[in-house]
Order: sequence, then structure tokens, then C-alpha cells
Amino acid sequence: MRGLIFSILLIPLIPLWILGVAIFTWRIRRVIIPQNISGTAAEPYGARLMLHIAGTRIDNAAYKIAEHMLLYAQPAKFIMLQATWLALKISGYKGSFFAYPGPRPSNVVTMMSHRSHFVDRSMNEAFSRTENFVEQLVILGAGWDTRCYDLPKELNLNCFEVDMAPTLNVKKQAIEKAGIPHDHVTFVETDFNQKSWMDALLTSGFDPNKTTYILWEGVTMYLTDEAVNSTLALFSTLPQGSVIGADFFTEDMVKGNPPHETWSKRAHAGIKYYSEKIMFGIPTGGSLSEGSEKLATKHGLTLTKFENVGDKDDKKKVPWYVFTEMAKK
Ligand SMILES: C[S@@+](CC[C@H](N)C(=O)[O-])C[C@H]1O[C@@H](n2cnc3c(N)ncnc32)[C@H](O)[C@@H]1O
Repeated sequence: MRGLIFSILLIPLIPLWILGVAIFTWRIRRVIIPQNISGTAAEPYGARLMLHIAGTRIDNAAYKIAEHMLLYAQPAKFIMLQATWLALKISGYKGSFFAYPGPRPSNVVTMMSHRSHFVDRSMNEAFSRTENFVEQLVILGAGWDTRCYDLPKELNLNCFEVDMAPTLNVKKQAIEKAGIPHDHVTFVETDFNQKSWMDALLTSGFDPNKTTYILWEGVTMYLTDEAVNSTLALFSTLPQGSVIGADFFTEDMVKGNPPHETWSKRAHAGIKYYSEKIMFGIPTGGSLSEGSEKLATKHGLTLTKFENVGDKDDKKKVPWYVFTEMAKK
């Protein structure tokens, strides 16, 4: 019923939404891409903003920076966020795209919520340990992620946000303009396909002898096989108890192997829209998690958490996206 009321309320908003999408698209194509700022970073950020406005997963920092980000500067913030918020508020709808943790098995509509929940759980568990405390948080390919800005104060973590310079600069400016405290965050420029993120981190105050949580969310698919493996090899040099959270498309999806032919084409085309390219997919193996276990073992790591989008027992919902947590034991 709430979903129906929400849909009815959306009808008068359709012209506004069309205008919003037009502004958004113009900004992606004419502003974001020409400046080499990540366009794909807008997708998970947009999904987290929707969860925030629905009140299902609060992310105050994400909402505060929105109007200072090129994509959501007004009138886009009003059209795409505030108008939707009003429809959600009146209807009380919190389902589908707006649900958190959302339904399982998840699907293409609810996968971002599932991914956020997987990462939130992994980080919460690592940060609430009673021994071998995590002392540093590194976000590789940070994009518009805002996890560094709502950490419990008692954690006292040093945070490092690593990304390519154009994306990092826009993010940093938005954080400053929004007045969000960021003294504990160091912004580190690098290109994973060109040089070692560890070298960049080491010159920015990162301590390789401290137990570290590395968040590598929504990035592996844009990297080469070599960059993925060298990242895990570098992670494995960190102290025992360090944890890395990473998501992977499956190799079958990336290559368009059956039954993913259509979805693979759509995914490649969708990413090409942002002038970016999907490159890496993880082999699944017989048990779906087998490929992730092998990759972890290859680097002396243990696969400690594994979830997937889709349902491996349903031929119509064959998994194509997996979420992993690997640890240095
Ligand atoms: C899809 S976004 C994910 C952003 C963020 N982790 C999140 O989940 O919201 C991918 C991010 O990885 C960064 N990235 C992609 N390739 C990279 C590379 N070769 N070197 C450094 N950063 C890269 C992009 O700039 C972008 O911010």
C-alpha cells in the first residue's frame, strides 16, 4: 500500500525527475568526464543518499556534501533528493531500492544496499574487537564514500582516502565547504594501474606496522588483473589482524559467459557511459566462493566473509556479483 502511495506521489514529480536526469546527464558528460572525475563514483553515492533520505541508513556526511558536489549542486539536489524525500515521507515507503539491509537474495535493484550492509557489518565487527585493535582505515578508490566522517569518536582512527587526483580534489573541496571535520583524514593521490598505492600511502604518514582495515569497495572491476593481485599482495604485508573488504564482479559476468550475455552487455555499456571500463572479474569456481578463497589463499589470506547478489539455487537469478572480506591471520 505504501509503495502504491509512493508511486502515485511520484507521478506529478515525473517532469521534475526528467529535468533532474537531464541536468545530471549534462553534468556527467560535460563537466565530470572532461575533468577526469569519476562518474561511476556517483552510482553508489546516489544509492547511499537514497537510503539516507528514506531514513533506512543514516549518512549525514553524504547528505551534507551533496550540494557541494558538482553532480548534486542545486537544482539537482532539490529535484532528485528533496522531492523524493517528500514523497517518501508522505507515503512512509521504505521498500525496494530504499530498503536497508534489504531483501535477500538481493538483485540489481537492491544490490547497493546489500553491498553497503556487507561493508558496514565487516567494518563494525573489525572496529569493535576487544584485542588487536584496528588503528588505521584506508579507503582505496574512495570516490564519494563518507565512512571516515561518521566513525565513533572513541575509535581515534587515522583515515586515508586514496583515489585519483581529480576525484579526490572535488571530494576534499566538498568536505571543506560542508564544514565536516576532517583532521583525521589524509587524502592520498594515486593511480592503482600505474603505481603502488602503498608507496603513495607511505609518503603520507601511513604506518605499515599498524593493524589496518582496508575498504576496497566498488573498485576491483575497473582494474587490471595485475593491479588486483598486486593490491592483495601489498595488503598481505600488513600486520596480522588486518582486514580488507572488497567486492568483485564474477568473471562469467565480465566476459559475458552464459547465462550473463545480456546483462554483461548492459553492464559494459552502462560503465562506458561514464567513459570507464570494466576489466576484472573473479572466477567463481564450483561453489561460487571457491574463486575468492583461491585468490585469498594465493596471497596468504583467509576468506572470512562472503555474500553474493543473486541466488545460486535459482537458474533465473544466477549470481554475478560477490562481496568478500579477507583477513591476514
Ligand atoms: C565506483 S567508484 C567507488 C567509490 C567508492 N568506493 C564507493 O563505493 O562509493 C570507483 C572509484 O575508484 C576509483 N578508481 C578507479 N580506478 C582507479 C585507479 N586506477 N586508481 C585510483 N583510483 C581508481 C575511481 O576514481 C572511483 O572513485
